[in-house]
Amino acid sequence: MISKQTIDKIFSTIRVEEIVGEYVQLKRAGSNYKGLSPFHEEKTPSFVVSASKQIWKDFSSGQGGTAISFLMEIENFTYPEALRHAAKKYGIEIEEDQREYSEEAKNAQSERDLLYKIHEIANDYYQNFLWEVDEGRSIGLAYFKERELKDDIIKKFQLGYSPEKKNAFTAFALEKGYAKEILEKSGLSIFPENSPAGIDRFRERVIFPIHSFSGRVLGFGARILRNNVKTAKYLNSPETEIYHKSNVLYGLNQGKQAISRKNICLLVEGYMDVISLHMSGIENVVASSGTSLTTEQIKLIKRLTENVTILFDGDNAGIKASFRSIDMLLTEGMNIRVLLFPEGDDPDSFARKHPQDYVEKFIENEAMDFIDFKAEILLKDAGSDPIKKADAIRNIVKSVSFVQNALKREVYLKEVSNKFGLSEQSLFNELDVQRQVTQNQTQHVQQQKEQKPAKLEIVPKPENEIDSVQFNILHQENKLIDTMLMFGDVVLHRENDKNEEYEVTVIEEILNHFEEEQYEFQIETNQKIINNIKEGIEHDELRSGSFFITLMDADITLKVADALMHPNELSDWATRNIFPPNMGDHIAEEVENNILIHKYYYIHVMIKQTTADLEEYRDTNSEKYFDAIKKIMMLNDFSKQIIEKIGWSPVTKSPIKF
Ligand code: CTP
Ligand code: MN
Repeated sequence: MISKQTIDKIFSTIRVEEIVGEYVQLKRAGSNYKGLSPFHEEKTPSFVVSASKQIWKDFSSGQGGTAISFLMEIENFTYPEALRHAAKKYGIEIEEDQREYSEEAKNAQSERDLLYKIHEIANDYYQNFLWEVDEGRSIGLAYFKERELKDDIIKKFQLGYSPEKKNAFTAFALEKGYAKEILEKSGLSIFPENSPAGIDRFRERVIFPIHSFSGRVLGFGARILRNNVKTAKYLNSPETEIYHKSNVLYGLNQGKQAISRKNICLLVEGYMDVISLHMSGIENVVASSGTSLTTEQIKLIKRLTENVTILFDGDNAGIKASFRSIDMLLTEGMNIRVLLFPEGDDPDSFARKHPQDYVEKFIENEAMDFIDFKAEILLKDAGSDPIKKADAIRNIVKSVSFVQNALKREVYLKEVSNKFGLSEQSLFNELDVQRQVTQNQTQHVQQQKEQKPAKLEIVPKPENEIDSVQFNILHQENKLIDTMLMFGDVVLHRENDKNEEYEVTVIEEILNHFEEEQYEFQIETNQKIINNIKEGIEHDELRSGSFFITLMDADITLKVADALMHPNELSDWATRNIFPPNMGDHIAEEVENNILIHKYYYIHVMIKQTTADLEEYRDTNSEKYFDAIKKIMMLNDFSKQIIEKIGWSPVTKSPIKF
C-alpha cells in the first residue's frame, strides 16, 4: 500500500495542467485552460482545467476531478496505478506502508519488483542495441526498415534487438549486480551446468516488449530474422511471476485510449498486425499473440468496450480457433463482428498496401456478424448435403446459445430463422437443448456485471408537486454541501440572541444546522462528506475542498470538482474583463439564506409526510389524527416565519395545501 505521506506528496507536487496537457491540447483562457474533451468527439471546447484549483471539468459529459482521477479515467488505471504513474513522472519515490504485510509477502513483493526492474533494464538494453550499436543497426533496424516501419513507430512500441553473442545481455545484467537467480526467474537468461557464464534466451532476434495495461514491461516476444532457420519464428518469454500470457494482450497499453474513444476493439493475431495498423493510424487494436483468446483477456477488453471485431488472415488455419473465440466473446457478453482478409493477406500486409481511409472503410464495411460469418464458412463446406447443412445450422445455434442476454439471443435466432427459412419454433427448441448443454459448461463463468457506479443525476419535474418538493430539497442540500467545500474555512462574524459577537466557520455553521434539524441526507455522497467533516472536527482539523481532493472516492472527487468549478468558467469572462457574480463577496449573507431556504424545503418535506399520515388516520378519529393536524399547523407557521426572514418566498407556487 502506498503510504499516506507519499500520497500527500504526490498531490502536492503534480500539476493537473501538465498531466492533462499530455493528452489534451490546452489553451489558456483567463485563469484557466481550455481544450477539446478527450472523452468525446467535439468541435467546441468544453473541457476546462483550473491550475489554481488543480482540478479539471468536462462540461459536455459532467465528468471532473483531480489529475489522478483524470489518469484513472483516460488510462483506465486503478487508483494506485494512477498514483504510481504520476509519481514516476515527477520522480517521486513511492514509500510503501508495509505494516500489514507479512515477511513472506514482503519478500514476494520485492521479488516481483526485481522482476519488473530486470525487464526494464533488458528493454532499455535491447532498444539501445537496436539504435546505437552497429550490429543492431545493420541487422535489427535494417530488418524493421525492410518491413517498412518508421522510426517513430519503432520507438512507440519500444522495439529492440538482441545480438548474436551468446550471453551479451546476461553478462551486462550480472555486471550491473543482478543475481543469477533473478535472471533465471525472469526467463531472460539460462544457466546450464556447462555454461556458468549463462546464455541469453533471445539471441540474434528482433525484440517486441510486451506491456501490461498500465505500461510496465512484463515479457518479450522475439522474432528470428532469417526465414529458413528451423527454430521457431517467434520465441516468447516463459510464464513468470509477472508474465502470465493468458492475462496479457499485446498492444493494449498503446491502444487503450483509442479503444475506449472509438468504443470498439480490433482483435488480430500477431505483433506485426498491431504495429502496422498503428502505423496506418488505426490504434484501437490488440493481439492475443499466438495463444487462443482467454476469458481474462476478454475481461481486459471489456474494461474499455463491449464491441470487438476479429480480424483474420486470409488462410483457413485460424478459422477453427476463431469459432472458439467467438463463443467465448459471446459468453462474456461482447458484441462481435468478424472480418476475413482476402486470400494471402493479413492485417499487417493489408494495412501496408492500402491507405488508412481504405483500411478503415474495409473493416467497417466487410466485417460480418458472427452468424453470417459462420454461415458462410460452414455452408461452403456443407455444399448441398442436407445432413451437413443441418449440422452447420446447429453449430450456429450453438453460438447463439452462448449469448447471455435473452433479448439479444432472440434477435439472433430470428436472424438465423430468416436466413435459412426455418421456423422459429424449431430453432427455439434447438436453442433450449443447446443452452442446457452450454449452461452446464459455463456454470463456472461468473456473470459479473462490471458497471460503473451510477452518476448522480437529478432531473427536475416541476409540473409534479411531490417531485418539485423532492427536487428542491436535493438541490438545496447540494448547495449547502458545495458551500462547505468551497468556503468551509471562511470565518463568519455572527451575533447571538444577547447581541454578543462570536466567530464561526462556514463548515461549523452549516453542520450545526444539519445537526439541529437531525437532517437525513438524501444523497449518499453528501452523507459521506459530512461524516468526513465530522471526523475531521474530532481531530481538530477543518476538512474542506482540498482535503477531499486526496480522497480516493470518485463520487466525492467529482462533487468537489463540480463545487469548485462553475459552468461559467467555460466562457472567457476574464479575458473580456467581465466577472461573473462571485459568491465569495457576500458569503456570510449567502450561507445564512441558504440555510434558511434549506430549512424551508425541509419543513415542506415534513408537511408532505405528515399530510400522508393524516390521510391514514383520518377515519380513526384518534389522537394521532389531531396530533398530525397540530404538527402541520406548526410546520406551516415555521414556513411563514422563514418567508418573512428571507423577505421572499423560495417557491413561487402557493404553499402546499392540506
Ligand atoms: N507466434 C508465436 N510463436 C510462434 C509463431 C507465432 O508466438 N512460433 C505468435 C506471434 O505473436 C505472432 C502471431 O503468433 O505475431 C502470428 O503468427 P504468424 O502469423 O506466424 O506471424 P506474423 O505475425 O505474420 O509474423 P511475421 O509477419 O513477422 O512473419
Ligand atoms: Mn505476417
